[in-house]
Amino acid sequence: MAKQQMKLADEIEKVLAKSKGLSLKELRFFYQGTPYPVTICSAETFKALENLEARRDDIVLVSYPKCGANWLIQLLRDLLFTTSQTKQENMELPFIECGDPEKYERMKKLPSPRILATHLHYDNLPKSIFKNKAKILVLFRNPKDTAASFFHFHNNAPNVPSYSSWDEFFSEFMSGKVSWGSYFDHAVAWNKHIEDENVMIITYEDLKENLTTGVQKIAEFFGFSPTAERIQSIADRGSFQAMREKSQELYGSIGPILFRKGVVGDWKNLFTEAQSQEMDAKFKECLGGTKLEAHLKYNVYCKA
Ligand code: A3P
Repeated sequence: MAKQQMKLADEIEKVLAKSKGLSLKELRFFYQGTPYPVTICSAETFKALENLEARRDDIVLVSYPKCGANWLIQLLRDLLFTTSQTKQENMELPFIECGDPEKYERMKKLPSPRILATHLHYDNLPKSIFKNKAKILVLFRNPKDTAASFFHFHNNAPNVPSYSSWDEFFSEFMSGKVSWGSYFDHAVAWNKHIEDENVMIITYEDLKENLTTGVQKIAEFFGFSPTAERIQSIADRGSFQAMREKSQELYGSIGPILFRKGVVGDWKNLFTEAQSQEMDAKFKECLGGTKLEAHLKYNVYCKA
């Protein structure tokens, strides 16, 4: 495990070093119309990803950036380590679309169940995930806190190009010009698949409300049956405080930036009233009256 942590932190340091001196424009390249960071994604890797052979018992985690993926990855790893015999030495960058094209060959050797995390849009997920009926956990967070977290990540992470202002970031976020594209496109696509077999939606806010219940639901979805005590200890280790304390050890210098504040409603410190209304209107236009809107409890978490 210690070897794995060192390796992941080293990999992340290498990615950050590659970002040094890049402007925001230079950071991005487009693949099939969506912007991605050149420092961790490449056309060669995307091509190779098409051949990833998902397994039926893979644990797939899909989320738009900054919805809490690293939190969920740690919870899922903890669930795996405490409930199965798997002691997976996975040294890959955790997101399937990130890294070198040879990673899929290495991933073939990993024992089941593997955790496949991704920020890809529904339409760009490897087809074998559906063909082989792997279960997909879809993590969402309210768009206002997601945008705020994304902005802070850019402006705090060492070497990652910063935005000149929150206003500049907000307008790029609203028009989907940020890495991995539009939050709203991502959400609209998932809303159509919310009731698909093998899909479970979970929200950041629900996990914040009650992490123990959240861990229990996730465990049931993936067919694990840990004892109530084990669920409780996973939830205890998954608290923001506990994770932030371990973040440097696991992720290196970017740890405390990835595990920044961990609260609901921090958007109120950045959004102007006009920006808040603009997002309300966009959300209504894209997702008003939908099942995903009900899941996200937009009116609870996104109203001042
Ligand atoms: P903030 O920037 O609002 O603090 P991702 O992992 O997808 O990049 O998401 C990062 C966001 O998830 C950050 O949000 C981070 O603090 C939050 N997060 C990570 N672990 C968390 C935890 N245990 N509890 C609550 N929030 C957490």
